[in-house]
Amino acid sequence: MSAKRSIEFSYDVFEEISQLPQEERALLKAATAILKKAYAPYSRFKVGAAIALSDGRVFTGNNQENVAYPSGLCAERVALFYVMSQHPDAEIQAIAIAAHPQDFELSRVISPCGACRQALLEYEIRIGHPIKVILGSEKGEVYRIPSVSALLPLSFTESKLKKEG
Ligand code: THU
Repeated sequence: MSAKRSIEFSYDVFEEISQLPQEERALLKAATAILKKAYAPYSRFKVGAAIALSDGRVFTGNNQENVAYPSGLCAERVALFYVMSQHPDAEIQAIAIAAHPQDFELSRVISPCGACRQALLEYEIRIGHPIKVILGSEKGEVYRIPSVSALLPLSFTESKLKKEG
């Protein structure tokens, strides 16, 4: 016998960036601004990430590619690892992610890759409260996802390293 289970999550969709609350709008604008400095000569796909802390500080990063492709790193992890290396007790509230391909128009939001979701989840658990994920750009719809865990169902977490008690 087998049973079906399902996992659902809901997220907010804004028609455009102007509808976001002021702080989130500023965060997404910061992600859009920093993507212009990305080093993405191989994919020509520039990505920016902006991280807001509970004290109001914002840190940004962008994708950094390498001729040995797997040696590059996504914008999200560039920003995240910088924040957590400099401010290990940082209370991350939200991350905004924006992309701009150099060769075509992007008509939809981009969503973080699996490795970035896993890296974000580590800190979401460590911090002990949800990290909001804001996806969008200066044009088009914006998604606001309430937590990283929503993006990574059935995730591998620390408790699984230990024998069940
Ligand atoms: N990339 C990111 O920086 N973040 C994402 O969420 C998706 C992909 C980068 C990796 C690579 O430099 C380029 O975009 C194309 O995959």
